[in-house]
Amino acid sequence: MLYKGYLEVEIDPALDLVKEINYLKKEKRAVLLAHYYQNPDIQDIADYIGDSLGLAQQAEKTKAEIILFAGVHFMAETAKILNPSKKVLIPDLKAGCSLADSCPPDRFAEFKAKHPNHVVLSYINCTAEIKALSDVIVTSTNAVQIVESFPKSQPIIFAPDKNLGAYINKKTGRNMVLWDGACMVHEIFSLEKLIKLKHQNPKAKIIAHPECEAPLLEQADFIGSTTALLNYTKKSENGDEFIVVTETGILHQMQKASPSKTFIPAPPNNNCACNDCPYMKLNTLEKIYVALKYEQPELVMSAELIEKAKAPIRNMLDLSAKFGL
Ligand code: 13P
Ligand code: SF4
Repeated sequence: MLYKGYLEVEIDPALDLVKEINYLKKEKRAVLLAHYYQNPDIQDIADYIGDSLGLAQQAEKTKAEIILFAGVHFMAETAKILNPSKKVLIPDLKAGCSLADSCPPDRFAEFKAKHPNHVVLSYINCTAEIKALSDVIVTSTNAVQIVESFPKSQPIIFAPDKNLGAYINKKTGRNMVLWDGACMVHEIFSLEKLIKLKHQNPKAKIIAHPECEAPLLEQADFIGSTTALLNYTKKSENGDEFIVVTETGILHQMQKASPSKTFIPAPPNNNCACNDCPYMKLNTLEKIYVALKYEQPELVMSAELIEKAKAPIRNMLDLSAKFGL
């Protein structure tokens, strides 16, 4: 089979990709980090599967010589910023993020200049250039606690996700200035279909990611990061049926952890039954195999950008450790 990805190489169709990837990981002292939104076959061979905070923490402490990041570009960038001397591989360089794209650095720099005296908190789902313009990075796991670590009188800019920002404002009673960005995957859920689904499954708990819009979050029994949603479904007191309002990849871990429970993906506002991130789903076992074997494509960043983006990420990791997260 001719594989036409970043490299054009011949892959023997009889090759056991899982076996080969596991062999190459060992031989090259490589670690495979994967986000919950990856396809199940990738999740099943990962050394670590997690949310954005968990992945950054793993990247921080890994002893591996190569980090292969099965996620999207901004996640691999974070790993590189924390490990400038290590080789960071990404299976598909086109695995970007609509939320990160919604915040161009030049426009954000102007926005920041219009709000002097504001602390800049940025969601980790942004480019390294935006991180370099920020004071502290947050994820959906630690955002509320990090915002609350600032005095109420401190003006704050929150970028790039307006939905997560609005959710934090509501939860903390703050009035952070929000950048007008959003994730295409979490904005496309249908409120009408969600309400209908709940009527059809009255016992099911609605669990949602805070990147969703407010009217959807208002329907939710529980709101949290992907890890928080997964942990919620594991607890017996939270029931046996769940309508999951986030990217469908997370259902694999939910079903694995609770095989007897029922997980229903919330439908988007189109003809699809479930909601996949087109960027996350660019990664495949073939691309992971090729990336590991040929050590390409490698994520390359300038030393200057790495240096500028490091402090806000370090601030997040230090605060998370302080909060026991
Ligand atoms: P978390 O996994 O950190 O909750 O983030 C969700 C997401 O959209 C990642 O792209
Ligand atoms: Fe970006 Fe949304 Fe995809 Fe996450 S799910 S990578 S925020 S586009």
